[in-house]
This record gives sequence, structure tokens and C-alpha cells, in this order.
Amino acid sequence: MSAKLTNEEITRRGFLGWGFAVLAGMVSFAIFVLSTLRMPLPSLLPGKSGRFRIGRKADFPPGTARYFEEEQTYVFADTDGVFAISAVCTHLGCIVGKEERQFVCPCHGSYYDLSGKVKSGPAPKNLQWFKIVKTPGGRLVVERSKRVAPGTKYLV
Ligand code: FES
Repeated sequence: MSAKLTNEEITRRGFLGWGFAVLAGMVSFAIFVLSTLRMPLPSLLPGKSGRFRIGRKADFPPGTARYFEEEQTYVFADTDGVFAISAVCTHLGCIVGKEERQFVCPCHGSYYDLSGKVKSGPAPKNLQWFKIVKTPGGRLVVERSKRVAPGTKYLV
């Protein structure tokens, strides 16, 4: 046995159903926006300058590991010399983070060893190495526009 609905009940039910659909859509959209904002942003643009000073040779004793955030570059020193590696992931340009024994991309999970070699994808290529030169005044300069083969170091 079914009860007959009045016009007023039908209208109220229709309104509640429509209102619920609108509310569910708004909640879904808000969740989408918030989850998108929480994603790490890719760095598709290069740093401000192709060249930047990092200091003097004495500022980089063996074992040094420094990150130059604005230039998106890691600079390391070992007993052979000083070297600079790009922090820009070769997949879609996110900034890789340095862990004790590797670089990790937070966007899609690529791993690189500390020489910038891809350990696991989706990154298609190794991290770039940049040339380091010394100015006449004795300061070391990283030239981001001049790429060098992995393993190329400024000799100390
Ligand atoms: S941007 Fe680094 S893995 Fe996708």
C-alpha cells in the first residue's frame, strides 16, 4: 500500500534532493581545490640568473653540501673538488629534496643517487651538472647555462 504524496511534500522532497546535489557538488569541488593546492608545485621556470656566486673555495671544505634555493642548485664538495647539481627534476620540473644517500622528487616519486643519476622513474634523465668557475677576485661562480658531464668538478 502506498501513501499518496501531497504537492507540498513533492515540492519539499524535490527541493531537498536538489539542495543535497548542489551541496555534494560544492563539497566535491572544495576537496578538489584543496587537494590541488597541497600538491608540490613544479618549477617550470629557471632561476632568476644563469650565474650566481657561491663564495670562496675555502667556504667549501670536503663534505660540504649546500642548497641554493633561489637558484635551485645543490653544491657539494669532496676531496676532489666542488660541484653543482641541479635540483630540478627531469620529469616535470619539481624540486628534488636531498636525503642522506639520494635525491627524491616529491611530485611523482623519482629517485636519483647523489651524483644525480636516475635510480627509478618516471624521471627520464639524470640531474644536470653545472660548470663552476673562479672569478679574478677569487670567488666561485656556478654557471647554470653551461652544463658539464656528471663527475666534472672544480678542482681544489
Ligand atoms: S616531477 Fe619529479 S617525478 Fe615527476
